[in-house]
Amino acid sequence: MSVTETQVLDALRNVIDPDLHRDIVTLGFVKDITIDGARVGFKVQLTTPACPVKEILEAECRERVLALDGVQEVDVEMTSQVRQRDAPHDDLIPQVRHCIAIASGKGGVGKSTCAVNLAIALAQSGAKVGLMDADVYGPSIPLMMGAQDERPFTRGNKIVPIQRYGIQMMSLGFLLEEGQAVLWRGPMVAGTVRQLLADVEWGDLDYLLVDLPPGTGDAPMSLAQLAPLTGVVIVTTPHHVAANIAGKSVQLFRRLNAPIMGVIENMAGFVCPNCNAVTQIFAGLTGEELASQLKVPYLGSVPLDPTVSDAGDRGVPSIIAQPDRLQAGSFREIAGKLAQQASIAGFTRKNDQSDQPS
Ligand SMILES: Nc1ncnc2c1ncn2[C@@H]1O[C@H](COP(=O)(O)OP(=O)(O)O)[C@@H](O)[C@H]1O
Ligand SMILES: [Mg+2]
Repeated sequence: MSVTETQVLDALRNVIDPDLHRDIVTLGFVKDITIDGARVGFKVQLTTPACPVKEILEAECRERVLALDGVQEVDVEMTSQVRQRDAPHDDLIPQVRHCIAIASGKGGVGKSTCAVNLAIALAQSGAKVGLMDADVYGPSIPLMMGAQDERPFTRGNKIVPIQRYGIQMMSLGFLLEEGQAVLWRGPMVAGTVRQLLADVEWGDLDYLLVDLPPGTGDAPMSLAQLAPLTGVVIVTTPHHVAANIAGKSVQLFRRLNAPIMGVIENMAGFVCPNCNAVTQIFAGLTGEELASQLKVPYLGSVPLDPTVSDAGDRGVPSIIAQPDRLQAGSFREIAGKLAQQASIAGFTRKNDQSDQPS
């Protein structure tokens, strides 16, 4: 006698998603069960292709079903579908499932570097990714992506994003003439952020990462008002000052009702380009300590590695130029954690308001 679909589902109810704290059947992740004698197949549809615990879940599903009497073979197919966020009807980017801002208290901490490498890491995991450079004071994404000579064209009345390294990107830098200086006042910043959201043909995206200017000025404020954010990532360095200022950004975004998805510590230990040894340079608060002080998730640490800035200057992001170095691994790991946080945020918002972290 072969097993029944109910038996398979009951077995899979023992598999708990470690982030969402519910079993995968209740979560609606199990799809397309097929039973052919002693052979059982099904799909598990996760909320992100960048799920860091994909392999663990897959192994557990296989094990649970194999343990059933009468089952000899199990085919598990791991798929993903990033969930649609709840957006108001006047949403400027209705086809973007997660809009995530990358912020920092001060400049030069590696915010743009993180935005570029994380966007590429998410795309490499199979997600559809956009990168919007909203740093009105120093748009640096075109240079870092080796696209500073590109000029976007328009289709209909929309600006078509530039494609590089598997992601769609748009920067204010593309829309300014070379060397053109802009004296920004508040309403102009708001107008520009709106234009980058509404007038660009972003299309269907799992993640839109937005590189914000440093600090707590008009751009973060406008963004949070114009597009419902899944959340904000704060980049900091191990200096005390940077940590203090990071605390201020966390406060601002909390007041704007934008959830903090976590802290990334950049330029922590120095990686010797010759021998790969890691040396700690700054004695300040670690990113992990800062995150726990601010009561926000800690997403990880990226070492100080000269090849990161070399790569950025040459227009080939370091995750592409040096995919085997420690920094690239850090970016991939952080991207996984970020996708995980996005899934949690999307899920709690949709299904159970009371689960929301305070
Ligand atoms: N992990 C790192 N290792 C070495 N250099 C880095 C690292 N992260 C960023 N940089 C360099 O530091 C400088 C500032 O980074 P950037 O991303 O432009 O900062 P922000 O956007 O916060 O102003 C750049 O020259 C960049 O190449
Ligand atoms: Mg920058």
